[in-house]
Amino acid sequence: MDRKPIISAKDVEITFSLRGRKLNAIRKCSLDLYEGETLAIVGESGSGKSVFTKTFVGMLDANGTITGGSILYEGRDMTKFTEKDWLGVRGKKIAMVMQDPMTSLNPLKKIGKQIQESIEHHQGLKGEAAKKAAEAARFAMFAACVMLRKQKRAEGKEVLSPFPRLGDI
Ligand SMILES: Nc1ncnc2c1ncn2[C@@H]1O[C@H](COP(=O)(O)OP(=O)(O)OP(=O)(O)O)[C@@H](O)[C@H]1O
Ligand SMILES: [Mg+2]
Repeated sequence: MDRKPIISAKDVEITFSLRGRKLNAIRKCSLDLYEGETLAIVGESGSGKSVFTKTFVGMLDANGTITGGSILYEGRDMTKFTEKDWLGVRGKKIAMVMQDPMTSLNPLKKIGKQIQESIEHHQGLKGEAAKKAAEAARFAMFAACVMLRKQKRAEGKEVLSPFPRLGDI
């Protein structure tokens, strides 16, 4: 059967500008990811796994540039995406679980507000409706936590009020 990859990266090159110097972090990296497949990238620390894969969610550090190659996703080259293009993809179709997921939430913003922002972006819900959906999402996460840890804590709306902290979700 002729299968088409979901993501096809070809000869990707990434360069960082650092104190007036150019550093080639990624040289001609390619991969094809197919539906239903789990693909592992293995390599020593500093070999470029994070830098390479951050380009699949448009999250390359500000001093980094894709200087070569292409990354095809749904027929479009992600290396040419604008920030507006990314808003329709990042977190909605392609998501990234960071190396240290416990610190991925902003500790200065309430959990409910952070989930609400994502829902507003991706589901076209605004204000109260988004807040309600965030509440439901957070509650579902909390229920999962309770099931996993067999412990009982806040209920209902209270689950949205805390600020994120280690071990919370
Ligand atoms: N913003 C940046 N500016 C300059 N160099 C960078 C930047 N980000 C990453 N690098 C460099 O790019 C290279 C690849 O780093 P990367 O974080 O992708 O490695 P990794 O394979 O994910 O390592 P680990 O297994 O430790 O997570 C490293 O030499 C790193 O120092
Ligand atoms: Mg890494």
